[in-house]
Amino acid sequence: MTVATEATHALKLTERINRIEPSSTMAVVAEADKLRSQGIDVVDFGAGEPHFATPQHIKDAAIAAIQGNFTKYTAVGGTPELRDAIVYRHASDFGSDYKREESIASVGGKHVLFNAILVLVDHGDEVILPVPYWVSFKDIIRFAGGTPVYLESDEQQGFQVSAEMVEHAITPRTKLIILNSPANPSGAVISAEDMMAIVHLAAQRGIWVISDECYVYLNYTGKRFSVGSVRDCKERILVVGSLSKTYAMTGWRLGYGLGPAPVISAMQKLQSQSTSNPASIVQKAAVAGLKGPQQCVEDMRAEYIRLRDYVVAGLRSIPGVTCTMPQGAFYAYPNVSSFLGQGGPKSAGDLAGRLLRESHVATVPGEGFGTREHIRVSYATSVTELNRGLDRMRKFFASL
Ligand SMILES: Cc1ncc(COP(=O)(O)O)c(C=O)c1O
Repeated sequence: MTVATEATHALKLTERINRIEPSSTMAVVAEADKLRSQGIDVVDFGAGEPHFATPQHIKDAAIAAIQGNFTKYTAVGGTPELRDAIVYRHASDFGSDYKREESIASVGGKHVLFNAILVLVDHGDEVILPVPYWVSFKDIIRFAGGTPVYLESDEQQGFQVSAEMVEHAITPRTKLIILNSPANPSGAVISAEDMMAIVHLAAQRGIWVISDECYVYLNYTGKRFSVGSVRDCKERILVVGSLSKTYAMTGWRLGYGLGPAPVISAMQKLQSQSTSNPASIVQKAAVAGLKGPQQCVEDMRAEYIRLRDYVVAGLRSIPGVTCTMPQGAFYAYPNVSSFLGQGGPKSAGDLAGRLLRESHVATVPGEGFGTREHIRVSYATSVTELNRGLDRMRKFFASL
């Protein structure tokens, strides 16, 4: 074999990996970082993470864990102490009744979703996915061999999802429905009534529901809700949670799943052959977060509401831009369709690229979330940064 053919041979990657794409949000972060490394002052509305520091008592618990040599392997799905803390927090806040064996801790909410989808979705299975969707759902479904079935939602109705809409998308091959409320990127919140109608429908049809509740504490409607509290459908529901946004812990990597013991046990088996346990030190920090004072969560939520109102008012004041009012999470999803085509940017991707390169504001184009007419603006930042970014955006849009 020549060196050239050997190299080609080595590069023959699996069909499985070729089914997926890199995360578009990560791509924006990388491009903004590149500009910053050239000394350019970029206003970053791209990042999907809190701007707050991790609360002190959580950091202290991690430091104590290191000092106390809590630095060895733990049980794959997390220590009993952590699993009990996850169950306790959820029961206290949402009235659920999970047991330790119905819980798992993994390396971030994304890891929980990856394990869950690989365990539940087989080749040929269909997965109903409301649009706009968080970038990774589609790729994890594809990686598992499943087919995403996109459920279009109406922007005029605030990107709402109802049982009636879901029912129309069900086929004999439907295996799973993925819900994400509050949603990334739209900030839409599905009402408790609609959520219950969807999970009851799914249970009647023998379909699984994964409820991604990574933003469940960042709900601005005043009516926080988890489907984990719908006890008569528990056998078909997997709740996915994360400490990333709730406690400003994105870099620590701690997420959890709550669901039927056989599914949790299968997820644990998969985890035992990949990452093993989440970092032991992080587990101690997570216990402090879940069992410690919760005022920090409320304080951050109050600040996000203030920032949301500020950024949405700012975006709506830009001629040609419209924006639904997000009810949760920390993203605004303005519609920029009036600027596309006719000699202007061809697509949201094109527009976001130009906004970054010409005006140095990082946003994420809607294509990665399944819509072509939007950009995602993360408002998890200071009012000063919001003002700087909004000013630049105003000038940029006026120039198109
Ligand atoms: C909807 C949604 N689910 C899951 C995640 C994963 O978060 P993490 O893996 O940090 O817990 C994110 C992160 O942005 C998200 O937006």
